Amino acid sequence: MAHSPLENDIEHVLLTEEALGQRLDEIARQIETDYADKDLLIVGVLKGALMVVADLSRRLAIPLTMDWMAVSSYGSGTKSSGVVRILKDLDADLLDRHVLVVEDIIDSGLTLSWLVANLRSRGPASVEIATMLRKPDAAKVDVDVRYVGFDIPNEFVVGYGLDYDERYRNLPYVGTLKPSVYGGDQ
Ligand code: IMP
Ligand code: MG
Repeated sequence: MAHSPLENDIEHVLLTEEALGQRLDEIARQIETDYADKDLLIVGVLKGALMVVADLSRRLAIPLTMDWMAVSSYGSGTKSSGVVRILKDLDADLLDRHVLVVEDIIDSGLTLSWLVANLRSRGPASVEIATMLRKPDAAKVDVDVRYVGFDIPNEFVVGYGLDYDERYRNLPYVGTLKPSVYGGDQ
């Protein structure tokens, strides 16, 4: 099969579009049950969670509202430091709301643990976390993640919202990049 210019940069596909969709179906059924009689507010963390929120929310047959937050964590290279800055805050008031934070990936978990503490200080009825992907290092930080799509190896991945230098977010699957893309051997 011919590869597109975008797909030429991919070393291997970790999770296909079908696998992601099937897992989201399962998670959606759990969320529907857990939030059946609750006023659900989905908080997507920009930009990476865009695809997950779009695909998960369309699978949820319960009333909900959506809001977005953008944060940047200072760090060197691809590692985050846990020092977080809010780039775009929520429009919604969290008082007495049941908040479900939706993430693309949890790596060190530092960004998320800061974010959850910040949201909890705003008086919500509850704060839970859903993430499409989780890496092993996330286990070192004390963040209780209610819904996990897939636990993946400690590799840098792109696609399905995840970027390398702001690119590859539009790939419909999750994969690893060829070393040549990082400026390594051609
Ligand atoms: P944490 O604070 O280390 O959990 O940082 C999580 C953030 O780092 C995610 O929201 C992503 O933006 C980014 N990140 C972590 N691992 C990857 C990866 O494999 N590919 C792309 N972005 C990643
Ligand atoms: Mg993110």
